Amino acid sequence: MKYLIKTYGCQMNEHDSEIMAGLLRGMGFSEAERAEEADVILVNTCSIRETAVDKILGTVGDLKALKRARPGLIVGMAGCLPQHQDELERVLKRAPHLDLVLGTHNLHRLPELVAQARGAPGTVVEVWPEAREDAAELPVLRAGRVKAWVTIIHGCDKRCSYCVVPGTRGPERSRPLEEIRREVEGLAAAGYKEVTLLGQNVNAYGKDLRPRLSFADLLREVDGIEGIERIRFMTPHPRDFTPEMVEAIAAARHACEHVHLPVQSGSNAVLRAMRRSYTREHYLGLVGLIRDRIPGVSLTTDVIVGFPGEGEAEFRETLDLVSEVGFDAAYTFMFSARAGTPAATLPEQVEREVKKERLARLMTLQNAVSLRRNRELVGRVVEVLVEGPSRSNPEMLTGRTRGNKIVLFPGEGELAGELATVEVLAARTWTLHGGAPRPRREPS
Ligand code: SAH
Ligand code: SF4
Ligand code: F3S
Repeated sequence: MKYLIKTYGCQMNEHDSEIMAGLLRGMGFSEAERAEEADVILVNTCSIRETAVDKILGTVGDLKALKRARPGLIVGMAGCLPQHQDELERVLKRAPHLDLVLGTHNLHRLPELVAQARGAPGTVVEVWPEAREDAAELPVLRAGRVKAWVTIIHGCDKRCSYCVVPGTRGPERSRPLEEIRREVEGLAAAGYKEVTLLGQNVNAYGKDLRPRLSFADLLREVDGIEGIERIRFMTPHPRDFTPEMVEAIAAARHACEHVHLPVQSGSNAVLRAMRRSYTREHYLGLVGLIRDRIPGVSLTTDVIVGFPGEGEAEFRETLDLVSEVGFDAAYTFMFSARAGTPAATLPEQVEREVKKERLARLMTLQNAVSLRRNRELVGRVVEVLVEGPSRSNPEMLTGRTRGNKIVLFPGEGELAGELATVEVLAARTWTLHGGAPRPRREPS
């Protein structure tokens, strides 16, 4: 028996897919290479923007033919989309061929639900409105053997006016420090070299624990675990990022010199309407502190263009901020009105054509900034965690720097999973090109 999981959305969803894979493996399934040979196909969904939902509904629609050809096939949907009642109804209407729908809070019910779906006609729907049991001890079948995702906090307590995540993932729930430490120790013992500490707002970590802890406490703990060479974290919120956390990152030997710090907009008026709870000035101050305390840090961000009320002047403030900070990279999005969020019904919605034009201008600027930042690295020797042969150019190896930049360089596949040093010879907008790798010098 074979399964296939198609995943949309953020790292949280990627990680949930690893858990579902672990559960299916526990039932005796192995992974299918192609949809045609799968007995169970799961689509793990994201509802952050309408474009994501369109793609997902297209994928699910395409599975109808496969299902018709092989009536024994189980087609299921999981993730954030069905957590919203209206979306769930839309899905069930559009895709009656689904055998199974579950949400983000009841992943662990997958084996039982697959069994139910096998025995019954129609769609088995089980979506929990909130988390009930602790899902921490679920089996995980990780997609890689060098880098691993580790959830530190579930959910989000922020109320950004455009965002569906608090609704789809529920309130913040930190995992106990002890449990995280055990998971990371297990990863180190299994040979993993890099962990990414995951949460929608990682700097809220520990607020809800008793005794109360902070992200800085957690980072110090994970930094002490033998064998883990690199620690990343995703995503911090500019509002909750304290100077103590900056110091903790600076002091942690294994914390990578990369901070993904979503800004969303450079205009205070827009930030206020987004309910981001920080100002442009606060953000720039934080960037200054991070740059000061973490030399050579690479900074990346998320930006939304065309938020309701954003005029040309506000948009220019975003362009200004992007130039001023000089981000290494930015994920840029057109505002998407999501049902049930306050921003969806704000007056002064921006026309699609205007959003498209702003997105293009922002991307042109960011690409130039990214290239400039990457060029600054030419001639430097960087540490790379080797991932393996490049997909686009199998003659070359690929890996990432501590600053999270992709490097292509010549070399043999057996270096995969190793840390090496590479001299940067050339820079492109999204990648660096390096010379022959050398084994990394042991840190003194
Ligand atoms: N928790 C993180 C990221 C959440 S979702 C944070 O607070 O930054 C990832 C990104 O998707 C967001 O940073 C935002 O830039 C974008 N996004 C979220 N909702 C959106 C919407 N309705 N329209 C367009 N982009 C959106
Ligand atoms: Fe969404 Fe804001 Fe929470 Fe990020 S912090 S997940 S953007 S509500
Ligand atoms: Fe999407 Fe859910 Fe992540 S809505 S961005 S998959 S938390």
